[in-house]
Amino acid sequence: RFQRRNRPCRYDIDRFTPSFLSIFESLVPSEEEIAKQKQLLTSLSRIINKEWPNSKLYLYGSCANSFGFSNSDIDLCLSIDDKEMSKVDIILKLADILQAGNLQNIQPLTRARVPIVKLMDPETGLSCDICVNNLLAVVNTKLLRDYAQIDRRLRQLAFIVKHWAKSRRVNETYQGTLSSYAYVIMCIHLLQLRRILPCLQEMEATYLVTVDENNCAYFDQVDKLNNYGAHSRDTVSRLLWAFFHYWAYEHDYTRDVISIRTGRIISKERKDWTRRVGNDRHLICIEDPFELTHDLGRVVDKFTIKILREEFERAANILQFDPNPSVALFEPY
Ligand code: GTP
Ligand code: MG
Repeated sequence: RFQRRNRPCRYDIDRFTPSFLSIFESLVPSEEEIAKQKQLLTSLSRIINKEWPNSKLYLYGSCANSFGFSNSDIDLCLSIDDKEMSKVDIILKLADILQAGNLQNIQPLTRARVPIVKLMDPETGLSCDICVNNLLAVVNTKLLRDYAQIDRRLRQLAFIVKHWAKSRRVNETYQGTLSSYAYVIMCIHLLQLRRILPCLQEMEATYLVTVDENNCAYFDQVDKLNNYGAHSRDTVSRLLWAFFHYWAYEHDYTRDVISIRTGRIISKERKDWTRRVGNDRHLICIEDPFELTHDLGRVVDKFTIKILREEFERAANILQFDPNPSVALFEPY
């Protein structure tokens, strides 16, 4: 591992850029699909607002952060200020409201870690999950979307990394691997280290909200930053190589935490993430940008860390040596 750390990228890596870009294009949702998502948001908002005029429905997650594939489920969050009702009561009442509004397959899941209502809209054919008052997710969705607007390579890289993670079955948090959200943060971090992306939370705040005692503040006038990464000629293939090389051979799993909040690597020591506390094992440390005590790698255990690191190494070696990396990388597990 030590010797591979300084391995230079293969000289002909850019031969594969067209095929990686066409994989990216094939995963992007169509305009038509995006229009349908908006239509669903509008019609559900109308139904819910009749009952709760002061509530507001937000899109969040992959259909709103610009890292969503076509045909993915839709995540919605209902923001409602009702002191009388518990979250579970709100979920149950929401299910009743939706039932009356002609939506289908309505399932309130009140015992889940994040209680939700699932439903299918017969008009658009789309399925979605609605959660309640999870505003931090709405804010981090905006942060990701804002980063994606600065340099197009972020979206290209993150789509391919997500596609790799889904093909290799290392994108399953309930099985102890990482969420899509965590992979996007890992991509942002890499591009910050290469000065292709700035660190928006270290800049003058133009967007400021407080959510559950967390201060969420950053520079969100990203249209002013679309030349930020222009100095770098790195292609998506080179960035992919760098991503997997970093996680296979360069990241110090015993000491380091990646942090897009600071745009740097910080120490586990400083965060007091050096030992297992409860179920948080901190074997791979990815700081949430706003919820600073939250390690997005906390679901990873001593078995799945091995699987993950082997997959990072496999991918790094494919990008280094394989004659056909854009095929081998996504071979189903
Ligand atoms: P796919 O559904 O796999 O395409 O990706 P996704 O972007 O919808 O990601 P995911 O299902 O992992 O998460 C959905 C949203 O929930 C994310 O965009 C975040 O806003 C939020 N989220 C997910 N995991 C966490 C977490 O651990 N902490 C916080 N604060 N938010 C999270
Ligand atoms: Mg999702």
